[in-house]
Amino acid sequence: MPKHARKPNYRNIALAGVIVLLAILIIILLVSLGGKKEPVPSAGPSDSVSFSSVESVAPSESSEESVPEESSSVEESSSGSKPESSSSASGTGVPNGQYAAMPETPYNYDTTGKIVRNAFDENGEVDILFPIDSKYYITRNFKVARLEAVDGDYKMDYRAAPHCKEMLAAMRSELGSKIRAFSTYRSYSYQEGNFQRKVKKLMDKGYSKADAYNTAATIVAIPGTSEHQLGFAIDVYLDSLYNKYGELNEHFEETEEYRWLQEHAWEYGFILSYPKDKIKDTGIIYEPWHYRFVGVENAKTIRDSGKLLSQWLEDQNIVYVYNGD
Ligand code: DAL
Ligand code: ZN
Repeated sequence: MPKHARKPNYRNIALAGVIVLLAILIIILLVSLGGKKEPVPSAGPSDSVSFSSVESVAPSESSEESVPEESSSVEESSSGSKPESSSSASGTGVPNGQYAAMPETPYNYDTTGKIVRNAFDENGEVDILFPIDSKYYITRNFKVARLEAVDGDYKMDYRAAPHCKEMLAAMRSELGSKIRAFSTYRSYSYQEGNFQRKVKKLMDKGYSKADAYNTAATIVAIPGTSEHQLGFAIDVYLDSLYNKYGELNEHFEETEEYRWLQEHAWEYGFILSYPKDKIKDTGIIYEPWHYRFVGVENAKTIRDSGKLLSQWLEDQNIVYVYNGD
């Protein structure tokens, strides 16, 4: 008996066609949604740091020198030269080529039950303990308190300067050291130049824009977040080491100057801001050369606590409000 050819079931075929079509539409929809990333809002106020174009050319050496109020500053460097992953030590998002300036604003804190301090006193001078990091930052309008020379043309806030001078003098006389200031006060624009130069240098080495930005932020503080901008920080270093390595690097910890600072910096009101064991907390590389003034009356307590200034303030339940422009 001849086999009867089965009649095709047109209804089932049409149904299958509709299902396949729907599936394709759903896949297209999912793919297009997945590709779109939510823009990460810049958390800072609109006039704060914005690096919409990190490609902008860093200021030339000559334009740097033409900024009169600043001390010249050599670049702080990390010894690593390999492109790293895009993980951001500062937690700063890098949305679609737009660089978010700050991870948080200092205005969002819940101050309930906290000791609230103003960043600036009635004369507009920044508080000696104002922490400046990824949480607290200053705006472009920040006005440093009166500056005073500490070493040649290098200047610091007048409240820190006399103590810094004493510290350098003591180190020189006790050790016969040739220690000197390599960087002190930096204006906002100067910090920006430093930062952009670092980004460019890393991009020249082959880093992607995002990696260059995030890596730079672990070496040079994002403008608005540097203790140098407050006039409270100093980088102390030796020409001999600088000439040997061409940068500020960790080898400074092997010097007697570093050991002296470990022992005595607090006596002059200074603490080490970026210790080796706090890289995860600071988001900044180990900087054995960078010291911050916190006041003679506070330095020992903070040092003995083993905490960063920001952590110590947190323990004291102290928060700052930014009452500046
Ligand atoms: N190198 C330190 C983090 C600064 O730029 O302030
Ligand atoms: Zn420094």
